[in-house]
Amino acid sequence: MSDSLVSVKAVNKTYQRGGEKLVVLDDLSLEVPKGDFLALMGPSGSGKSTLLNLIGGLDTPTSGSVEVDGERLDALNSKALSKWRSSHVGFIFQFYNLLPVLTAFRNVELPLLLTKLSGSQRKQHVETALNIVSLADIVCDEPTGDLDRDTATDILNLLQILNRDHGKTILMVTHDPMAADSAKRILHLDKGKLTH
Ligand SMILES: Nc1ncnc2c1ncn2[C@@H]1O[C@H](COP(=O)(O)OP(=O)(O)O)[C@@H](O)[C@H]1O
Ligand SMILES: [Mg+2]
Repeated sequence: MSDSLVSVKAVNKTYQRGGEKLVVLDDLSLEVPKGDFLALMGPSGSGKSTLLNLIGGLDTPTSGSVEVDGERLDALNSKALSKWRSSHVGFIFQFYNLLPVLTAFRNVELPLLLTKLSGSQRKQHVETALNIVSLADIVCDEPTGDLDRDTATDILNLLQILNRDHGKTILMVTHDPMAADSAKRILHLDKGKLTH
């Protein structure tokens, strides 16, 4: 058994654009040990979201292997991948202040009452959100991107607590140097290659 939760080996991701081949990830390898809090930085278009999507099971590589928690994601067909994703990957969709008189479920559900989601969709979102806090390891694509400073600080504090006190492994893509500072280590992606 390896200590890595995520093991990316010699991954290439290319897109065909017109007659040209666009190389987005170029022979990229990455190990994320359990308990890590890794920030991934890099210029726009460097492939950060593409890499996160491979690790989150939203996409598959053109070549190379992507193993998450012992599962070879690159070997799964799209049906198997979406099944894997539904039981392993959570999405952070909203943050807000909690009302102490409500149960955790009602607290999380409250802001969703203002949306067009159906009751069963709300239930699914709430369970996903609670799952992130209680169980799942976390991938975050620019979690503080659109937020004011105070809210960004709250989110970063929460991520640090989840990592430090609850042992969650966190892989966070960010442009924000303050966000990157809350991670244990920082890697840079440039033109599809990782550097330190
Ligand atoms: N589905 C796609 N088809 C073609 N090109 C894509 C697709 N998705 C991403 N790209 C290209 O891949 C490159 C990396 O994109 P992305 O991973 O979103 O970068 P980042 O998140 O670092 O800004 C960009 O040049 C983008 O235009
Ligand atoms: Mg991106």
